[in-house]
Amino acid sequence: MADTLLEVSNLSTGYGDVQVLWDVGFDITRGETVCLVGSNGAGKSTLLRCLSGLIPATAGGFRFEGREMAGRSPQDIVAAGIAHVPEGRRLFGPMSVHDNLLLGAYLRHDKDGVRRDLDRVLSLFPILAQRRNQAAGTLSGGEQQMCAIARGMMNNPKLLMIDELSLGLAPQVVEMLSETIRAISKDGLSVLLVEQDAITAFELATRGVVLDSGRVRLIDATAKLAENPAVQEAYMGLA
Ligand SMILES: Nc1ncnc2c1ncn2[C@@H]1O[C@H](COP(=O)(O)OP(=O)(O)O)[C@@H](O)[C@H]1O
Ligand SMILES: [Mg+2]
Repeated sequence: MADTLLEVSNLSTGYGDVQVLWDVGFDITRGETVCLVGSNGAGKSTLLRCLSGLIPATAGGFRFEGREMAGRSPQDIVAAGIAHVPEGRRLFGPMSVHDNLLLGAYLRHDKDGVRRDLDRVLSLFPILAQRRNQAAGTLSGGEQQMCAIARGMMNNPKLLMIDELSLGLAPQVVEMLSETIRAISKDGLSVLLVEQDAITAFELATRGVVLDSGRVRLIDATAKLAENPAVQEAYMGLA
């Protein structure tokens, strides 16, 4: 399909002898927000690590803008336009917000583009502009998540993968971050959103992939998933 951005096919991976993902397949259309829901240990972070080249696929692969990317280095994958906002933010605590943001652009040589994207993320997250010279480790949890997302956007990606957007954050902070994700997506960026909180995930995404013990169990419109009794019971705290 012409507007398919990411196409994951029969992807399997794991750590050493331990297989974690079996035969995973789904796609993301250009500009679409897709969520990945599943219990703790289902393999969500492992999938993102594989898609960003941090761990190799043991079978299957994934195409990005039609090009096979499995087996490519993390640098190649970043350069192709996939950004990964890891679980737990992983900022460099002693470094300033500004320097953390510039790290997101370390592969780029287009100074004007980097400056433009820095302005863009600082206007998306005005609080980061205020805290620009502050050590990232001294930010609140919500501000650190903003900084991690902004860092991911500093590479001007086509796909932003966010691992656990809302984990450990207060509801009003999650609401603010959700607004930003909507704004980013309106700008045409595709988002793969990993969320333990299915209710937040379903509000933000148009389609969802349900991962259970390393396998895709369901792929559907989030409106449909939200009405599915099995999904409600397992992931939405409803019975
Ligand atoms: N670095 C690792 N080495 C070995 N096993 C791991 C590693 N990271 C995760 N796992 C295992 O892979 C499985 C999936 O973990 P993970 O992808 O973190 O799940 P999720 O993000 O859905 O909570 C779990 O059984 C976990 O113990
Ligand atoms: Mg995880």
